[in-house]
Amino acid sequence: MQILVTGGAGYIGSHTLIELYKAGHTAVVVDNLSNSNPESLRRVADIIGIPEIPFYRVDIRDREGLEKVFAKHKLDACIHFAGLKAVGESVEKPWEYYENNIGGTLVLVDVMRKHGCKNIIFSSSATVYGDPAEIPITESCPKGQCTNPYGWTKSMLEQMLMDIQKADPEWNVVLLRYFNPVGAHQSGRIGENPNGIPNNLMPYITQVAVGKRKELGVFGNDYPTPDGTGVRDFIHVCDLAAAHVAALKCFTNALTHSLNNTFIYNIGTGKGYSVLDMVKAFVRVNGVEVPYSIKPRRAGDIATCYCDPSKAEAEIGWKARYGIEDMVRDSWNWQRQNPEGY
Ligand code: NAD
Ligand code: UD1
Repeated sequence: MQILVTGGAGYIGSHTLIELYKAGHTAVVVDNLSNSNPESLRRVADIIGIPEIPFYRVDIRDREGLEKVFAKHKLDACIHFAGLKAVGESVEKPWEYYENNIGGTLVLVDVMRKHGCKNIIFSSSATVYGDPAEIPITESCPKGQCTNPYGWTKSMLEQMLMDIQKADPEWNVVLLRYFNPVGAHQSGRIGENPNGIPNNLMPYITQVAVGKRKELGVFGNDYPTPDGTGVRDFIHVCDLAAAHVAALKCFTNALTHSLNNTFIYNIGTGKGYSVLDMVKAFVRVNGVEVPYSIKPRRAGDIATCYCDPSKAEAEIGWKARYGIEDMVRDSWNWQRQNPEGY
């Protein structure tokens, strides 16, 4: 298939490009570079062994810009990563988040349908479950109250895409609910490149290890978990990338258009590790120090979040292959080789 990859220069998008080409697909990338560097695409092309990845610096809210891309390329499906993703920033700037994530997706979907491209894989998040009603979380767990506008954009976009599919059964909609992506490509040439102070655990750990930050703050050690720190379902970004390739099966298998061609999958390993498990594994595997101190809980955090990923295995044959040691090794390999990012 030829796939439009929105947000393809970003962290998960760049890793997914490699998996797409490995599986024999080709891609066209659209990204406004608001949170990425085109160097990622040059390195991806190098890793794949092609001269370049077709790339357009276009904002998904720019209808004319998208029209030109669709006029030039025959696109079979879209993997839609483009969006703003900083939870704290979304609380400060809700309008910007709703406008970019929801406004952008509505323009994208409209241009897609005008060009007869009605297959979409959307980057959703475990955040749509809110404080989950069950652990491990299955896809039938009810969605919950999000604690921030970023989370609501994901929850609302899921609903919008499902409604659009119901009204026009030619659409096939895949909602992938990612748990906590970490790690980097084994080459160490591409990885997560956060702007400013990292919000998420793993980039904070790697920046402490490389000497950019003094110590990690562990947000709370009084949760009802084995060691008192938060438990999450960390997943290697290359496994996550491969899940997108597996999910393309939903489009080829959907032989008859039906009202229920919305496919929802949890994408995690099914194992929960605590904040201190991650720190300890990082120190042990990489032989580096990560000083930390216990800080108060972070507002909006939940104690435990991990999934039951068996639906994805049963239906699209996808399962995580990498474990915690691969995750901490590859995160460090990227940071060590690129202390200042791209
Ligand atoms: P990222 O910021 O690295 O990638 C997103 C890309 O989208 C960036 O390259 C950015 O420049 C681009 N972009 C943003 N707004 C755009 C617009 N209006 N037009 C065109 N391009 C635009 O983030 P990521 O970690 O790779 O995440 C990819 C997707 O997965 C996002 O939708 C994110 O919300 C979702 N997600 C990420 C995580 C995570 O932990 N990283 C977890 C759950 C879901
Ligand atoms: C966060 C977002 C979630 C988003 C996900 C994507 C919140 C409440 N949730 O998930 O919406 O989809 O990122 O990346 O922000 N921690 C520390 N010290 C740190 C950073 C984190 O102890 O410096 C702890 C947190 O308290 C948490 C765990 O590490 O227990 C994981 O945190 P993080 O990486 O930010 O992910 P989530 O909070 O699970």
